[in-house]
Amino acid sequence: MNITFDSAKRIFRLETENTSYVMAVAGEEGYLGHAYWGPRTGEDDLTYLLRTEEYPFRPLRDNRDGVAFLSTFHKEFAGCGAGDFRESSVRLTGEDGASVSRFLYRGYRILRGKPALEGLPATFGGEEECMTLEIELKDADSDVFAVLSYSVFRDSDVIARSVKIRNGTGKRLWLDRALSLTVDMEDDGYRMLAMSGAWAREHIAGFRDIAPGKQSVSSLRGVTSSEAQPFLALAEKDADQEKGRVYGFVLVYSGNFLAQVEKNQFDSLRVSLGIHPDNFRWLLEPGDVFQAPEALCVCSASGLGGMSRSFHDVIREHLIRSPWKDRERPILINNWEATYFDFDTEKLLAIAREAKKSGIEMLVMDDGWFGRRYDDNTSLGDWTVNEEKLGTSLKELADGVNAIGLKFGIWIEPEAVSPDSDLFREHPDWAVAVPGRVPTRSRNQYVLDITRKEAADRVYGRIAEVLKSASISYVKWDMNRYLTDLYSSSLPAERMGELSHRYVLALYEMQERFVRDFPHVLLENCSSGGARFDPGMLYYSPQIWCSDDTDAVERLAIQEGTALVYPLGCMGAHVSDCPNHYTGRTVPFETRGHVALAGTFGYELDITRIPQEDRDLIPGQTAAYHRYNALVRSGDYYRVASYAENGAYDCWEVVSKDRSEALVTWVQVKARPYHKARVMRIPGLDPDAAYRVEGMEGTFAGRTLAEAGIPMPAFQEDCRSALIYIVKA
Ligand code: GLA
Repeated sequence: MNITFDSAKRIFRLETENTSYVMAVAGEEGYLGHAYWGPRTGEDDLTYLLRTEEYPFRPLRDNRDGVAFLSTFHKEFAGCGAGDFRESSVRLTGEDGASVSRFLYRGYRILRGKPALEGLPATFGGEEECMTLEIELKDADSDVFAVLSYSVFRDSDVIARSVKIRNGTGKRLWLDRALSLTVDMEDDGYRMLAMSGAWAREHIAGFRDIAPGKQSVSSLRGVTSSEAQPFLALAEKDADQEKGRVYGFVLVYSGNFLAQVEKNQFDSLRVSLGIHPDNFRWLLEPGDVFQAPEALCVCSASGLGGMSRSFHDVIREHLIRSPWKDRERPILINNWEATYFDFDTEKLLAIAREAKKSGIEMLVMDDGWFGRRYDDNTSLGDWTVNEEKLGTSLKELADGVNAIGLKFGIWIEPEAVSPDSDLFREHPDWAVAVPGRVPTRSRNQYVLDITRKEAADRVYGRIAEVLKSASISYVKWDMNRYLTDLYSSSLPAERMGELSHRYVLALYEMQERFVRDFPHVLLENCSSGGARFDPGMLYYSPQIWCSDDTDAVERLAIQEGTALVYPLGCMGAHVSDCPNHYTGRTVPFETRGHVALAGTFGYELDITRIPQEDRDLIPGQTAAYHRYNALVRSGDYYRVASYAENGAYDCWEVVSKDRSEALVTWVQVKARPYHKARVMRIPGLDPDAAYRVEGMEGTFAGRTLAEAGIPMPAFQEDCRSALIYIVKA
């Protein structure tokens, strides 16, 4: 890693191990131009790539062809309304109603390490691990400043970017948009890759062609949502898992976002990523600073796999803070699909006793333990233990579980309030709602206005009391609806456009408080399944529930999409009962185990009631977890085959960083009668080393496994699977 500035030519160069990112200050005016980003180049002067001498796109000089220049020049940060008609990075409106800006270079500083982003989750690293460049720009005709921040890391090809806007004008300004990054590049024939989905169908990856105009994924739901990920990638047309150039972008944020590619009349692409400009309007008083969230960018010359591995490395090493990230998590059993709301201490202890026999290590009590929560219509906000329902106190329950030899965990939903709750009856104005309008309900609940400090303090305080009252090792923090009826009685009218972002900031503050107060509790975030599976939340919790859909076949595409960006060790994945509650499908218990082993691993079923032959398989599965989890958590991930693409089989591999071992998971979703076994090429091993493959005689060179491959088990049944362990001879 390195960052340099050539002061004579005014060129900035960022180097990661395999990539270069080059910017230069152009023209007398000082536009900050984007010259190159891609695989590592020589240290040559690349300013010719700015193309500032081509008629009529020259820098302004006499201002004759300013519009031609502004609308084609590749910039690092795009002002608004002056002639660049592409999506702008920023839009500032003054008291006079005008919103024109042109940002020009002022100065820079290069520092070792990386400053934190105030109030926001962001990557971190020590002085030896990363370097940061800050470039200050100023609006040509006013005292508005933008500081662009770029960090590079020693151990990954990721560049972390963010922007800070400062109002130095002495007058009030409204920030109508503040994107985290804008990247301009030539369209060398890319396709856009994004993830879309729905509840129980999260994170499904798909390519689309890039047509002139704009294509985007976004959320205006107040949280990341199950409908889209704050991610997009541009992949060369013939790029695949292991070859071809791919640019990937993901936003470290958990609210409304826009991820967009725009192709203009000159075949330039502009990638934009940041807080969605709709529902966003931030008042900047004189002297105020606005910090936009961080975006992580990767250029991979080794296909989608290279992009994923870079994201995994940076997220593991520089974003997840939890001490649990490098530790085996206790194998849990969660009672949601086992009992839904129908449980008491006796039932939970019966599950715990049976679970203990099979090597399960923690019981998690899901929704339904508080207030009068006998179903999902009531009591959110009333965080007192329903001892009448449980039949005991929480402490007695937790002690009982501990006495059996299991840890104990609990479900909470701090950001919600039921209309039928004491909290709502006491403080109806604490729900996010517009006075005089009937707010929309979802799952018969409202969102609690946690931007009001007293509301946040009240629920946090009550929940903290409960957590302290018993021996609790794990918390599942859920959030089961989107934000509507945007209004907070704590904000003046002119600041109402700040609510969505303020909500996310308040959530981060609450989670920060939680990790500070309960440093030893393992936190798993969740939002109706995977609706808040994003890099922002990983700053607080080392794992996130990936989807309510626990069907092992459905999970193949869900987990494949998730693993495009996120390390396997943070994907919440459980074995559940069949017929599956969401699809009605029956998949062998063994296959359900193999698929869940690609994530955090656990169970979500009534172990006292499942068939004995399934129960008999659990000790083997928990042993496999202990055997392979360190590898799955820390290794390099390779996507070998995709059921989402081929409709018949799925295969992925995790290779240890030292390439001494690998685990291949094979899932044959559809059996083929009267046919040969499928051969899979196994990448990522040391080409010159010899390996033993479990189930095969002799040894094989890494290059043999990568080029010739090995046959996968051919089962005469659908939905069968196998784990294949490979180890250096
Ligand atoms: C959400 C979660 C589930 C479960 C329920 C409880 O849907 O995703 O796992 O916790 O809430 O109400």
